[in-house]
Amino acid sequence: MPTDTSKPMKLERYNSYIRKVHSTKLLNASSKFLFRVTLLIALVLILFFTINYPPLSDNTHSAPHHHHRHSFLSTSLFSGSSLVGGAAWEKQVRHSSTPRRVNGFSVLVTGAAGFIGSHCSLALKKRGDGVLGLDNFNDYYDPSLKRARQNLLSKHQIFIVEGDLNDGPLLTKLFDVVPFTHVLHLAAQAGVRYAMQNPQSYVKSNIAGFVNLLEVAKAVNPQPAIVWASSSSVYGLNTENPFSERDRTDRPASLYAATKKAEPKIKKRWRVTSLTSTTL
Ligand SMILES: NC(=O)c1ccc[n+]([C@@H]2O[C@H](COP(=O)([O-])OP(=O)(O)OC[C@H]3O[C@@H](n4cnc5c(N)ncnc54)[C@H](O)[C@@H]3O)[C@@H](O)[C@H]2O)c1
Repeated sequence: MPTDTSKPMKLERYNSYIRKVHSTKLLNASSKFLFRVTLLIALVLILFFTINYPPLSDNTHSAPHHHHRHSFLSTSLFSGSSLVGGAAWEKQVRHSSTPRRVNGFSVLVTGAAGFIGSHCSLALKKRGDGVLGLDNFNDYYDPSLKRARQNLLSKHQIFIVEGDLNDGPLLTKLFDVVPFTHVLHLAAQAGVRYAMQNPQSYVKSNIAGFVNLLEVAKAVNPQPAIVWASSSSVYGLNTENPFSERDRTDRPASLYAATKKAEPKIKKRWRVTSLTSTTL
């Protein structure tokens, strides 16, 4: 009698159907899982790049200033061995700013790592005044020169805080720690030709940074007297020689000159008229 093979075959077909259903379910589940993981990774990456990278609208010319964009409150910067804003840092700030002569000044020198700023800082210290420097060490020219000046100044007990004029919280903190009697404002974007390459740096330092400094100085008590450097370039297209302070200054020949010319106008017309100031 022939054996009935249809039953095991049916069973086999049924089993293979069940296996297919299972493997399809497994495939569906794993592709769902893979999709979710990929989505999560993409979100994490988007978040990471949003936080860590500057907006695309920033052009390459402002690159030298990128590392100064963060406020000192939102970053933990190190200066030498002291955490900025920490107890050791405040001690350095106070020590550097304390005058060593009776009725000596306590001077905040902006642009202290610069050509004029470093010499003025040394001269003031030599006279017995307290001096604290502020400089962003930008790379308009070789920053190693500025670092060498920083080293020289530190040998004379002058501390330079690394920071930008536009960092309001940092400036406010400095005035919280030290009641400066004077600000010698020498930090600026200098140079005539560099404006062709990086015009924004003139606006950032000579206009925005200047206004920020005035705003902070105006708000503190006691208010410091401000002394700042102008430039002979404000006489622009003048043909008179030698220059006189009475010469016209309304025909600047460069962006540098225009921003330098704007500084006293800003001081005069802005709501900071109560500040005592002298322009050099
Ligand atoms: N050197 C000259 O012949 C001359 C002539 C006329 C006027 N000046 C004026 O004297 C001042 C000093 O000139 P210098 O020759 O010493 O220039 P400098 O470039 O050597 O020094 C300026 C310093 O300011 C710093 N700085 C620039 N922008 C800053 C910012 N936003 N925040 C913090 N620090 C910043 C720079 O890193 C630099 O160390 C400037 O205001 C300049 O316009 C200079």
